[in-house]
Amino acid sequence: MRGIVCYYSGSGNTKLACQYIVKNIKHIEIDIFNIVKDGIPDLRKYNIVGFAAFTDFLGPPYLAQTFIEKLPQQDNKPAFVFNTYGFISGKTLKILDKWVTAKGFKIIAGHSLHTPESYPPMIAGGRGNEQAPSKKEMNEFNSFISELDQLLYFLGEGKEIQRKKMSVGLLNSLLPAFSRSKARKDMGEKYIDDTLCKECGTCEKLCPYEAIKLNPKPIFNMTKCYGCWACYNHCPNKAIYTKKYRGIGYYPKPHNQLMEKLKV
Ligand SMILES: Cc1cc2nc3c(=O)[nH]c(=O)nc-3n(C[C@H](O)[C@H](O)[C@H](O)COP(=O)(O)O)c2cc1C
Ligand code: SF4
Ligand code: SF4
Repeated sequence: MRGIVCYYSGSGNTKLACQYIVKNIKHIEIDIFNIVKDGIPDLRKYNIVGFAAFTDFLGPPYLAQTFIEKLPQQDNKPAFVFNTYGFISGKTLKILDKWVTAKGFKIIAGHSLHTPESYPPMIAGGRGNEQAPSKKEMNEFNSFISELDQLLYFLGEGKEIQRKKMSVGLLNSLLPAFSRSKARKDMGEKYIDDTLCKECGTCEKLCPYEAIKLNPKPIFNMTKCYGCWACYNHCPNKAIYTKKYRGIGYYPKPHNQLMEKLKV
């Protein structure tokens, strides 16, 4: 038995949580796969596949959808879904369930973990949720991992595991996920502070949607841009800004408190 968890993490919270899951699963080895960098995995080698992403405007990121769509059709291969979120998860888990199930996987477990915010407008507004997850949320996360581990043990014993339908609660289910154009519009036009930009290319390299070209300073292609704020969060010189946000609210890597809680 071997597993794989395919993740998309803009600032590292989801990656860290996946590493924590993998570390605490005792019954099988699970590989970690970055869907932005690593292409498409050969799933034939794996008995279970995890799909993990962060909440991006009340749903899973567009990039997770394109990744799942590219996978070959499956015949009931067991899977689990997971997401991190900073404030309200919306339908993230339910939509992940829908996409993954449509590919022929059988979802057997899923969980949403509350973490600090990576969305600059929330951080700038003093709602960075640096303390998340709470003790209760951490206990729930650990219970999810124990239950998943138990299911993996049963799978290894050749037992049939029932499909588990993901539910997200009434409030989350009432909130509609943002469209791609709304996300882009919400971020708005991006500008470069020429005095701060050192033409290092980090933004071009990290843009998950290939919307930046260096010439020699970054040029943004607004048709391709998804408004994911990765360029803003990761510019080492804080040279990228929008009309409303400049020099504030960055989240380039997991908060120290989260690193402490999810020590691997
Ligand atoms: C563009 C963007 C949109 C986001 N939208 C939401 C949201 O709708 N609800 C929420 O709870 N968190 C939202 N977040 C916060 C992230 O989901 C959360 O901080 C997550 O843990 C980040 O994971 P990562 O570090 O793996 O990218 C958003 C973050 C970004 C960058
Ligand atoms: S990451 Fe920042 S400093 Fe580097 S090229 Fe992009 S805008 Fe310039
Ligand atoms: S240009 Fe910036 S905000 Fe737009 S998709 Fe690329 S990294 Fe995200």
